[in-house]
Order: sequence, then structure tokens, then C-alpha cells
Amino acid sequence: MKILMVGSGGREHALIKKLKESPKCEKLYCAPGNGGIAKDAECVNIGAMDIDNMVKFAVDEKIDLVFVAPDDPLAAGMVDAMQKAGVRAFGPDAKAAIIEASKVFSKNLMKKYGIPTAKYEVFDDPKKAMEYVVAENTTPVVVKADGLALGKGVIIAQTIDEAKDAIKSIMEDKQFGDSGNNIVIEEFLTGPEVSVLAFTDGKVVKPMVSSKDHKRAYDNDEGLNTGGMGTISPNPYYTDEVAKKCYDSIFVPTIEAMSKEGRPFKGCLYFGLMITPNGPKVIEYNARFGDPEAQVVLPRLKSDLIDICEAIIDEKLADVDVEWYDGAAACVVMASGGYPVAYKKGIEIFGLDENGGVDGAVVYHAGTKLENGKFLTNGGRVLGVTAIADTLDEALKKSYDAVSKITFDGAHYRTDIGKTK
Ligand code: AMP
Ligand code: GLY
Repeated sequence: MKILMVGSGGREHALIKKLKESPKCEKLYCAPGNGGIAKDAECVNIGAMDIDNMVKFAVDEKIDLVFVAPDDPLAAGMVDAMQKAGVRAFGPDAKAAIIEASKVFSKNLMKKYGIPTAKYEVFDDPKKAMEYVVAENTTPVVVKADGLALGKGVIIAQTIDEAKDAIKSIMEDKQFGDSGNNIVIEEFLTGPEVSVLAFTDGKVVKPMVSSKDHKRAYDNDEGLNTGGMGTISPNPYYTDEVAKKCYDSIFVPTIEAMSKEGRPFKGCLYFGLMITPNGPKVIEYNARFGDPEAQVVLPRLKSDLIDICEAIIDEKLADVDVEWYDGAAACVVMASGGYPVAYKKGIEIFGLDENGGVDGAVVYHAGTKLENGKFLTNGGRVLGVTAIADTLDEALKKSYDAVSKITFDGAHYRTDIGKTK
């Protein structure tokens, strides 16, 4: 098969490495890809949001399977466009991808179908939103932009003034553009967070092994929220008992709700969960593999990923066994100094072996480019240094061993992946 991966991050690199394991994979393209991906796939210079040219390439090259990995092209209808052109594509269509692209949609869906989530109100008027937070007078309170905001659209306000500032910057100053036309104000929940990615064809749902993301920039969960500074799998808080509760009260009801709404979800649905004292609740849905969750979940997948993708497209997921390796995986993200705010690009990376010089490790490239045979930094998150092992401690040790061999000016990584709550 000829396969085209859409995207350019560490998640896409992990997907590509897994697809390459399949005997069915003859030729892999990635658009636009990155420096490390270029070693595993032929990179094509088409932007991830350039739907017209992506479809044209897929048709011209007779691609057998297009894998749309990032949120933006999914929400913009790249899968719909591929289908229209007769190209098989993995990922939800736009009307299903809305489960991530609109928090107002997903919150209303959960309310309508009784899926556990934080209590909330929706506002399209900043004045009314401010009156509401003043009248409720409870802190912390969570303010969320409705639309996609590069993972930055959630503000946990510790005071009423902070909440008002958040409402102002999202709705009046339009910090996230039209994504802030509507906002959700919701109850602050507590408890450990768990990420569960799940394969679904709109009929059945097969959860993958669990994972845990470390979203803050610095150790001890300090600093700003990022796209994710590291992950582990499995998540120690995701016991069999919690898993069963999530399956019955969240996963199956969500899949059924989307189908009942005429928006059957086909692809990878990401459940961002919080295990609260009152049971597991949904913090957010994503319409795609998480990044860097994919980097620890995919290495543990034993079954053929192409078979799973095809079964999902054909709505025959019930017929496929999805099997996993026991053990654990850890991913430590090496980021550019200054990320997630301002950072430099184009800095040379040294010590970069494919496995970081450590057996059982693998370095997924997130923001790199290859120039004259040298790898240079080219983004905020640069590398996802990953390892699998029998135990989490061993996996973490291998990841950090590999991290210690890789250097670039200003490199920043957390030293407590797998340790904090
Ligand atoms: P999101 O972009 O929706 O994943 O939110 C980013 C982070 O904000 C989550 O991973 C949580 O840590 C936190 N968060 C979001 N909603 C809530 C909530 N209702 N209560 C507590 N923390 C939250
Ligand atoms: N790591 C969180 C996300 O992919 O949204």
C-alpha cells in the first residue's frame, strides 16, 4: 500500500514508525513531515492545512490510505475532501471532529446524554459571563475558549479578577480569534488526569492502553501549560475498576451519542479524563491521537495498525483483535529554551542517534529539520525521547539515558516525567 501521513510532529513520527512495521506498507509519504521523519518516509512539501493540494497529491499518486493526524485539517474537513475524491482516509469527518473543535458542542453533548463532566455554562456575551463569575463567586473557576486554540484556550482562574481578565482576553481582545466568540465557564475539578485514546468505527469502541501527559513546562507541574512535556503508559491511576467505569459511563455512551446525533465518529477518539472523588469525568475530547501520548501508546501496539485503520474505515472494527504488549513506555520531550513562549530555531542538535544510543529507546522527531546532513531545531517541542521496557522505572531510565546523550543549545526538558501527580 501507498500511505500518506498528514502532519509534522512527534505524533506523526510515531505513527509512521508503527505503520512501517506492517508488511502491507510499501511506500510512505508525509506532508509536510520534518527532519527525522525524512529518514522514515518521503516528505512532501504540502502544508497540513492545504486541503486542495493534499487531495490532488493523493489522487495523482494513487495513495491507498491517507492518515490525517492533526486537529486543524480534521476540523476543516480534509477527510471529507479525500472521500469526495474517492481516496480512503483515516480520521473523523468535519461533522464528527467538532467534538474537539467546539467545546460548546462537546459540553452540550455530554449534558444531553448524561456523560459525566464538570458543570458549566456557555456565554456569547462577555458582560453576562463576567456577571456570572461575580454572582457565583467560586474559585478556582475554569474559563475555556470554544474553538481550537493550540492547547492554550483553557484558563484556570484563581480569583474572580483573573476570571474577568480571561473573559476579556478571550472574548474582547480575541486572543484566539474567532475561537473565543463563545466561551464555556466550568466548575474546577480535582483528581489525577488520565488520557485514554480509543479506536472507534462509530459502532464499537476499543480503548488503547492508558497514558499520562505532563502538560506544564517545568518540574513539579510548574510553569505554563504546553502541548505536553512527556508521557508515560500505562497510567498508574487507571486501574481495571476505573477502566470499566470509563468504558460503561463514558466511552460507549459517547460513541452512541455521536451516532445518534448523525455524527458517527470514525478514527481515534481521545478521552481526557479526571478521576475525581465522584468518579471519572471528561475534561475534554480530542478528535485525534494525542501528542505526546501517541509516542508511548503506539510502541505498545502489537496488532497491525494498517489493519485497524482499514477496519475502521470499513466499519468492521468489531472483527479485528487489537492487541498490546505488556510492560511500560516513557517519553521525555526535549524542547527549545523558552518554549512555550518565544524560542529560537535553527540550532544544531548533537548526539542524535536513531535510538539515542540506548537499546530499546527511540527518538521521535517533533520540531527538527535536516540541512546539509545536520539536524537543526525547528519548533518548540524538538524531540520525544522514548523507551519501552518491562517496567515503568526501566523505561524512564532508558529515556533519560538517551536524553543525556543528546544536546542542543538551550535544550529544556523536565526531569520528573513519570513522577508527579
Ligand atoms: P484542556 O485543554 O481542555 O485539556 O485543558 C487543559 C488542562 O486544564 C487540563 O489538562 C486540566 O489539567 C485543566 N482543566 C481543564 N478543565 C478543568 C476543570 N474543569 N477542572 C480542573 N482542571 C481543568
Ligand atoms: N497532549 C495533549 C494533546 O495532544 O492534546
